[in-house]
Amino acid sequence: MQRRVPYSYGVVLVQSSGSSGQARDATKLRVGVVGATGYTGVELLRLLLAHEHVELCMVTSRAEAGTRLDSVWPSLRGRCELCYEAPDMQALANACELVFFATPHAVAMNMAQELLDAGCRIIDLSADFRLRDRTTWEHWYGTSHAAPQLLDKAIYALPEVAREKLAGAQLIACPGCYPTAVQLGFLPLLENKLVETTSLIANAASGVSGAGRQAKIGNLFAELSENFHAYAVAGHRHLPEIEQGLAAAAGESVKLTFVPHLLPAIRGIHATLYAKPRGKLSATDWQSLYEQRYADEPFVDVLPQGVYPETRAVRASNVCQISVEPLAHSNMLCVLAVEDNLTKGAAGQAIQAMNICYDYAETMGLENIVALP
Ligand SMILES: NC(=O)c1ccc[n+]([C@@H]2O[C@H](COP(=O)([O-])OP(=O)(O)OC[C@H]3O[C@@H](n4cnc5c(N)ncnc54)[C@H](OP(=O)(O)O)[C@@H]3O)[C@@H](O)[C@H]2O)c1
Repeated sequence: MQRRVPYSYGVVLVQSSGSSGQARDATKLRVGVVGATGYTGVELLRLLLAHEHVELCMVTSRAEAGTRLDSVWPSLRGRCELCYEAPDMQALANACELVFFATPHAVAMNMAQELLDAGCRIIDLSADFRLRDRTTWEHWYGTSHAAPQLLDKAIYALPEVAREKLAGAQLIACPGCYPTAVQLGFLPLLENKLVETTSLIANAASGVSGAGRQAKIGNLFAELSENFHAYAVAGHRHLPEIEQGLAAAAGESVKLTFVPHLLPAIRGIHATLYAKPRGKLSATDWQSLYEQRYADEPFVDVLPQGVYPETRAVRASNVCQISVEPLAHSNMLCVLAVEDNLTKGAAGQAIQAMNICYDYAETMGLENIVALP
């Protein structure tokens, strides 16, 4: 239940029975985050709390219910007075117009329909609604899908491909972190049918925050620092998602060799991509292809010819930096793409999708300059 209360500066506030009991600005979008103790959750909080059109109304955690947000995340002291609440769909629907899910897979799919029926919009950072094909999803995620009726309703939020579909969308599925970098890297080649589609290769490395905020031996400082290794070589869950996006861009099926690695860093993805050109173009032609494809994209930065991207240059920013280099010796094309797995690879891209969905400026809240060194 909400009642309108006067506000001395002419803004109409809404007094809500939601969790905080604080007066609310009716001109702002009321937003909740499910899974706000995790790494993508806190990245969402960082961006949402600085967004001029957003009011954060509810944050959930089962483990931290009742705890103040800023005692879990001291970086948010003075920015938010909320306490965590246990996830409850009715309470979320009452308090929020838009709910972000920053939860492991197989959580949002059990809650989405109820929120949608209550008139909420959803932006899901998990994999629950990324794949169109239910059988493929169930094969890779090892469980049955609880909301298959929503799979073809969800909009896959790679804005560089689906900007028009995101406007006004009810259910938005954010791409995974590796899939964002790999798709952005290959798109110009596949959309223009310039490379073989059966021999694409992606070697990609992610910082350890990509594994979430869970206690695992392999994620300990003493295990991962001064170390570098591949994992899930025989098959990673992002493979079908990447192939789905690349096939749509190519207009034909594709085969990708995808090998992920663990970087001894907290944030960042570096993807080294290889493709076999169908014809011969000069280095300048390849460079122009990328520059033209992304000329109007606010968050894809094609670096000058011969300049190669590095992860620290995009840390906590929503930018994906790309460079393209033809390899004369092997007649292969090499594309390098870097992003922050938690920002363009997750929460930043989710905010970008929100901005498009609600017709805010697409870059709003996402224009910070990276701190270096
Ligand atoms: N990390 C990345 O770089 C990255 C990038 C792109 C996409 N993603 C995806 O984003 C999602 C979140 O990833 P993350 O790295 O932020 O995970 P995380 O650090 O492990 O956090 C998971 C969050 O979900 C909550 N949660 C877990 N099980 C839940 C349940 N059954 N019901 C409600 N809440 C539950 C947890 O809090 P409680 O247990 O206290 O409720 C916690 O706040 C995942 O699906 C991941 O694949 C991650």
